[in-house]
Amino acid sequence: MYRSHNNGELRLEHEGQEICLSGWVQKIRDKGFMVWVDLRDRYGMTQLIFDAERTDASMVEKARSLGREFVIQVKGKVIEREAKNDQMPTGDIEILVSELNILNESKTPPFTIENETDGGDELRMKYRYLDIRRKPVRENLIFRSTVTMEVRNYLAKEGFIDVETPYLIKSTPEGARDFVVPSRMNEGQFYALPQSPQTFKQLLMVGGLDKYFQIVKCFRDEDLRADRQPEFTQIDCEMAFVEQEDILNTFEGLVRHLLKQIKGIEVEEFPRMTYEEAITTYGNDKPDIRFGMKFGELNELAKGKGFGVFDSQELVVGIAVPGCAGYSRKQLDKIVDFVKKPQIGANGLIWVKYNEDGSFKSSVDKFFDQEQLKGWADQLGAEKGDLLLVMAGDAGKTRSQLSTLRMEMAEELGLRKPNEFAPLWVVDFPLLEWDEETQRYHAMHHPFTSPKPEDMDLLDTEPGKVRANAYDMVLNGNEIGGGSIRIFDKETQSRMFDLLGFSKEEAKDQFGFLMNAFEYGAPPHGGLAFGLDRLVAILGGQETIRDFIAFPKNNSGRDVMIDAPSNIDDNQLKELSLKLDLNK
Ligand code: AMO
Repeated sequence: MYRSHNNGELRLEHEGQEICLSGWVQKIRDKGFMVWVDLRDRYGMTQLIFDAERTDASMVEKARSLGREFVIQVKGKVIEREAKNDQMPTGDIEILVSELNILNESKTPPFTIENETDGGDELRMKYRYLDIRRKPVRENLIFRSTVTMEVRNYLAKEGFIDVETPYLIKSTPEGARDFVVPSRMNEGQFYALPQSPQTFKQLLMVGGLDKYFQIVKCFRDEDLRADRQPEFTQIDCEMAFVEQEDILNTFEGLVRHLLKQIKGIEVEEFPRMTYEEAITTYGNDKPDIRFGMKFGELNELAKGKGFGVFDSQELVVGIAVPGCAGYSRKQLDKIVDFVKKPQIGANGLIWVKYNEDGSFKSSVDKFFDQEQLKGWADQLGAEKGDLLLVMAGDAGKTRSQLSTLRMEMAEELGLRKPNEFAPLWVVDFPLLEWDEETQRYHAMHHPFTSPKPEDMDLLDTEPGKVRANAYDMVLNGNEIGGGSIRIFDKETQSRMFDLLGFSKEEAKDQFGFLMNAFEYGAPPHGGLAFGLDRLVAILGGQETIRDFIAFPKNNSGRDVMIDAPSNIDDNQLKELSLKLDLNK
């Protein structure tokens, strides 16, 4: 037996018991005739004491030979500590060791295995198994497991069945590039790894399985960010004989269940906002509604008043930042510099201080008098003491720039509180999105999404105006899930492929299997998928999903621990009928 207890378990009530523990050496303190060792495992830490007077001198010698991260087993007696540590659950006791077995030695780890480590990102990724020994990483992974278990509990209770779908498939269009896998047995041909199990889950509905879910890996070859990994996990769900309302209720229920079970928070019914409203009020389709600073349009109040910068622009729009009227010149300059950064790309910004005494001071005092500025303040819902920030330009771009600024200001003012949760649904997304580069429409969600029946007439005349039965769940400014009601008849689906610029042959080649299935009694259906990594990170009060993935990729899509991707040898290339010509 390696252990009778774990290292987080023993308390004063165990005093006098002979026990056996195993784990890793965290720390050694040598006080001459006595040596203390902190022993660590997944469950916590227990202090060991080696005392020449109370046991024997050779034990102390052996303890002295230990190094950090050695794996040891000890036997001994639980005793009350003289100097208690109320920061540790096991801080009232220590183990007077009578037997020490070294199970394995360890090289000195390349960084300290402490909550605050001295290891940089790359180093910790290279030795991820050591990083996982650190409490913050370990706890994130345990947290993820807890969330996953609760997801399964809820969905099982709701009658969903867990079905696995294949990884070696044909391209599924979710808007990213595919990762492909060459086939040895089918010379010159490739599988694609699924960007999501979208088409399979629809086929399961045709198969009559009614309520499906899967916690499943998806693969997308896209540029990486804090909330994106090339392989990530979805909680993928689909239901048949449902309308949008059924889906929203079911999955709102899931997130409510998670918030209650995991965070102890009860949330009211989730607010719903149309895409249009989200864009005009918050400048993006995943608004953080934990705080205000709603957009106010100033076209009427600010254009045509002799300030040339505004006059020629499509949109003048602003926000009121609470309590910032006292900002110094330097602080204001910092905000202006922020919006001029190339990633944001604004030409500039107008500021207006709504002073406590009710007067205004602005960067456009020459053009607008106090009364006019009061009009702006009212339009933006500002109060005395607020700072108004106003931008102008092309509507789409300006909204998106102001939205970034809104988030930045909220961050700076500490309004993005990690333990506050404000979920909402964004509904009525446009069906299509015009792509300037390719000069054609793309599906905003994916090509299987059903148009709203009341907008069907616009499909031929103004396709850009057609709204979809598509929805996203947003939590604290992040898109944590998205889905739609699907097209389930062959004609509409084929019309959709036409609109997206697929020729009949291309559509048949890529999606013939789905169109065929629709000819055999496809039920009305719809679903959604949550990004599990994102959901877990946000519930954990963070936004970087890497910290909640056991073995993540770095920003260049590399696993630096196993060194992948890597070259493969010539024989393997030959077997796969691949030729690499890097000079081309
Ligand atoms: P969508 O493409 O919106 O929908 O993806 C669903 C959710 O997956 C998460 N997500 C990601 N998480 C981490 N890294 C990524 N690279 C990444 N890409 C997406 C997001 C997103 O909301 N088949 C449809 C779902 C459906 O229609 O049922 C789909 O995949 O949180």
